[in-house]
Amino acid sequence: RGQDADALARLHAAGVVPVIVIDDVAAARPLADLLAGAGLDCVEITLRTEAAPSALRAVAERGDLLVGAGTVLEPDDVERCVDAGARFIVSPGLDPQVVERCQSLGVTVLPGVATASELLCARRRGLRAVKFFPAEPAGGLPALTALAAAVPDLRFMPTGGVGPDNLRRYLREPAVLAVGGSWMAPRDLLAARDWSEIGARCAHAAGVAAE
Ligand code: 3PG
Repeated sequence: RGQDADALARLHAAGVVPVIVIDDVAAARPLADLLAGAGLDCVEITLRTEAAPSALRAVAERGDLLVGAGTVLEPDDVERCVDAGARFIVSPGLDPQVVERCQSLGVTVLPGVATASELLCARRRGLRAVKFFPAEPAGGLPALTALAAAVPDLRFMPTGGVGPDNLRRYLREPAVLAVGGSWMAPRDLLAARDWSEIGARCAHAAGVAAE
């Protein structure tokens, strides 16, 4: 319910999901080219900027990348993002109304959880994957592992404080569906169109995920 197996399988296969804050829609296509070139199949565009919905549409129109919307705080945003081509919806927390809207539209939803109680709420709603947020401040890998041991039928997308130094450790945890983070294409590098640095970070992350 509310989670499409194909989208979850693609997130899992990608291993890493760049979380994007985009200020200029014109950067969306070159970014998508770069992600595809690096072998990163999935991307999350956060609704933190005015450019986000058009950027989401521009990337979705390519057809080859699995595009999600992040920072989805309002149920009505779900519709707008799905119309723009979003195949998964990410939220920093578990808002029942956002989850229900996703489920009614049949789009994969990854609500943020940081505690066992939130995890059980997600499970009760029929979800099988969640975002673990904010991963490092909420206890990092030891917390994720303890939650996963207690609730073994859910998988996690840890996000928040993950980067090149701890990526490998998260990816080794079997309960991890994929790892999300902004380090691959951070807002400042994107604004500066620093494609060589973004490309290097994406290639490194893709390489670690493929290990
Ligand atoms: C998110 O919205 O998921 C986080 O802001 C990303 O966290 P990071 O910037 O620490 O990767």
